[in-house]
Amino acid sequence: MGKRFRIRHHVNPLKLGYQERPVERILPGPATEVEVGCAEAHWLVERAAVEPSWRYVGLEIREDLVVEVRQRVARLGLGARVDVRYANANTDLDRLFGAGEVTRFVVNFPDPWFKSWQHKRRLLTGALVRSMAECLRPLGELFFQSDVFDLALDAMALCEGEPLLTNAREAWRFFPENPFGVVSRRERKSTRQGRRVWRLLYRRDRDQGPLGSTSGTTH
Ligand SMILES: C[S@@+](CC[C@H](N)C(=O)[O-])C[C@H]1O[C@@H](n2cnc3c(N)ncnc32)[C@H](O)[C@@H]1O
Repeated sequence: MGKRFRIRHHVNPLKLGYQERPVERILPGPATEVEVGCAEAHWLVERAAVEPSWRYVGLEIREDLVVEVRQRVARLGLGARVDVRYANANTDLDRLFGAGEVTRFVVNFPDPWFKSWQHKRRLLTGALVRSMAECLRPLGELFFQSDVFDLALDAMALCEGEPLLTNAREAWRFFPENPFGVVSRRERKSTRQGRRVWRLLYRRDRDQGPLGSTSGTTH
């Protein structure tokens, strides 16, 4: 039996080792959905079955987990369409994607870091929302879900404050459902436990300069 080692549940993204590493640029391609903090990549694997013409990219900061997930994706025969990368989204996003190259970002159940002194470790910051907005194609989307109301409200405030994004429903309104036909692992667990899930869907505005085609955005 192969050697098993324990994969940590959380890492501190502010640790120096996660800050300035070389990253390999993801070349522009077809309609591209990116899950930020993809963990075991359940969402991406299921999405690849639902929407087979798209390309799926997962960004995950736990390197040992990424090694395992990449092996599993390859065993499933999805290596060409599901690309899971070891990355710190907070520092690497702009180096992985160029402006206007991503069709959809998905942030599913980011770590809440409940204690106030830990808030600075949270994934979603104004800078990350700005980077994602800039990497989106016109009409590209940013979907967020969490079962922690305060976190979802903070996420909403960040997105409402981003001039490149518009709430797909109406300003300062949560989105009523997950419209993408699959559920993330954490989403499944929350639903099983009867927890309420708070969702956001934002779209990049159409007229934000010559950033590429709007094709591929289907929702
Ligand atoms: C609570 S899990 C949610 C996993 C999955 N999205 C789901 O809904 O089942 C949050 C994930 O985000 C990852 N993560 C946290 N900070 C990150 C960062 N700065 N860059 C990339 N991934 C990060 C964590 O390692 C963890 O796997």
